[in-house]
Amino acid sequence: MTELTKVDLIIKNAAELLTLSSSIREESGLGMIRKGAVAIREGKIFWVGKTEELPKELCLNRAGQEIDATDKVVMPGLIDSHTHLVFAGSREHEFEQRIQGLSYLDIAARGGGILSTVEATRKASFDQLYSLGKKRLDRMLSKGVTTIEAKSGYGLSVEAELKILEVMKALQRDHPISIVTTFLGAHTIPKEFKNDREGYVELLTEEMIPKVAQEGLAEFCDVFCEEKAFRLEESRKILETGKKYGLKPKIHADQLSPGGGAELAAEVGAFSADHLEYVSQTGIERMAEKKVTAVLLPGASFFLSMTKYPPAREMIEKGVAVSLATDLNPGSSMTESLSLMMTMGCVLFKMLPEEVIQAATIHAARSLGRENEIGSLDMGKKADVLVLDIPNYRYLPYHFGVDHVELVIKEGKIVYRNQ
Ligand code: NIG
Ligand code: FE
Repeated sequence: MTELTKVDLIIKNAAELLTLSSSIREESGLGMIRKGAVAIREGKIFWVGKTEELPKELCLNRAGQEIDATDKVVMPGLIDSHTHLVFAGSREHEFEQRIQGLSYLDIAARGGGILSTVEATRKASFDQLYSLGKKRLDRMLSKGVTTIEAKSGYGLSVEAELKILEVMKALQRDHPISIVTTFLGAHTIPKEFKNDREGYVELLTEEMIPKVAQEGLAEFCDVFCEEKAFRLEESRKILETGKKYGLKPKIHADQLSPGGGAELAAEVGAFSADHLEYVSQTGIERMAEKKVTAVLLPGASFFLSMTKYPPAREMIEKGVAVSLATDLNPGSSMTESLSLMMTMGCVLFKMLPEEVIQAATIHAARSLGRENEIGSLDMGKKADVLVLDIPNYRYLPYHFGVDHVELVIKEGKIVYRNQ
């Protein structure tokens, strides 16, 4: 008699099981298994294959559960690879001003923009920020998101930046969504340093980065590299200092104007370059060479009525891994819906449905250096799994503006069920 192996959860009969596994070569690049099944043990993927081939020796624990996914799609949890999760206040008046014709930069120049959110965030208490962040995470979870990247950057003083990062740490402890933290003290020049940008760069490199690293509050360091924020030289200095203290580089690059941000990303070995509306040819080539993931943010293009889109097709064809993210923030992209970003990726950037699914799973994992842990249903990876009430994967971007999530499983536990 063969020995029985106890598992905690078995999902079977999925019309399409999207493994995203590179080891399963299929027509769609999604590693699709029709009539697929997945078995989960101790929070990890234990077995993946065809339902009819489920090994006989697999049996459920006493408290174990079997889920029938007939006519449904099963796939890895979504990963939102670029968010500004923790902020206070809101900017709906700017939204209205833009509808009336003002631009994002016009509004910032009049004292709105990032600095107005900085003011509100500085004033907010730890508890207020925690509860705002938690609500946003709850919304994300209900939309199938199981991991996010979250940036600070609305504090811009030692005290306020640390407060934001501490809030993220507390949320990470209490919420099912995994949070990967990024220090974005270099989001813009705060008003106290309006006439002393050098002084702020010094504060960043000599005080903030060492402190954030020392207290283990962030894994990545990001810079808004843009004519109106941090110049190329300043960005290089900040990212290199971050690296010296063990913070991995990321960069907001070439969003509003061409600025050599993508080239800098390749030069410093960034995990990702984000936005990239104005990326240059050389920038794309360097990113491909150095395997920098492109994180594209269609919500920001859409919300700012930008007509200049990042050249997603060209990047994909040149071998750059493309991820999509919400950029959740009160100014340029007030949304928690990664699936809406997937529709926009298709419609605005001409990405294919299978490409936007890769973008929100395995490529997003890569942009966070987590491709060996999450982003695909491979044996041994975290069991972050979705059951979607759709007949095939194309429906995910195709039937837009509604949630298709039926079940969210995080590290083997059911953490959300759509009743
Ligand atoms: O990613 N680009 C810089 N930061 C945000 C916008 C922040 C804001 O407007 O508050 C972004 O689009
Ligand atoms: Fe951003």
